[in-house]
Amino acid sequence: MRRKLIVGNWKMQGALAQNQELLNSFFTERGLLSVDLAVLVPAPYLAQAQGQLQGTGWFWGAQDVSDEVRGAFTGEVAASMLLDFGSKFTTVGHSERRQRHGESDQVVARKAQRALDVGITPIVCLGESLSERERGETRSVVRRQLAAIIDLLGASAMAQTVLAYEPVWAIGTGRSATAEQAQEVHAWLRGQMGEHDDEVAGKLRILYGGSVKPSNAVELMALPDVDGALVGGASLVASEFLAIAHAAARVN
Ligand code: PGA
Repeated sequence: MRRKLIVGNWKMQGALAQNQELLNSFFTERGLLSVDLAVLVPAPYLAQAQGQLQGTGWFWGAQDVSDEVRGAFTGEVAASMLLDFGSKFTTVGHSERRQRHGESDQVVARKAQRALDVGITPIVCLGESLSERERGETRSVVRRQLAAIIDLLGASAMAQTVLAYEPVWAIGTGRSATAEQAQEVHAWLRGQMGEHDDEVAGKLRILYGGSVKPSNAVELMALPDVDGALVGGASLVASEFLAIAHAAARVN
């Protein structure tokens, strides 16, 4: 049985005082022992997240990592630096980075490799745009994105990764994928992984992301191939994020 994982993605939001309050309300919550919980904060707040969350059972991490180890790469943050602040996870290949920063499938795969090299679990984001879905290209797009990762990491290393299916048209739009749409892509992604390694496919956690909120979390978290959620907007509101976490805890 795959343990559910609920991850908050703060994106470029937060401030010291506000973070303190939000983090406090997270780890003081009870009844969530059956799920894994994490928050991905802007890099400058990693020390704050570590200070408040260490020893609470909650995990924290980053939203991106350099595809280089270290050196003259102004503005980049190395995986080893994320680890210095206790990061357990980092997303790679979020659509906001693929689109705004032109990250290719190969760059995203290298970022996942850098994270793995230091023992940080990469959460690899995949997903199609609205026009790709309308053209019936969802499977070919996510297959290409997944293949780049498996090619570089190798099938067995995929056991140390997490996937996040995030249809681009559902991110920040309030319009989540339907349960049928999510389950269909998740099952298909697991099937793709299974063509390389059946055992890894059975263990691989595939999160859904894109307008997850308390009102749709119960249905989404109950789907057989949805192993948790990557939550943007709702992760900034304690009551909403915790309600999503409880929805996952109930089906676990
Ligand atoms: P959203 O963002 O929950 O605000 O749609 C999800 C994400 O981008 O990870």
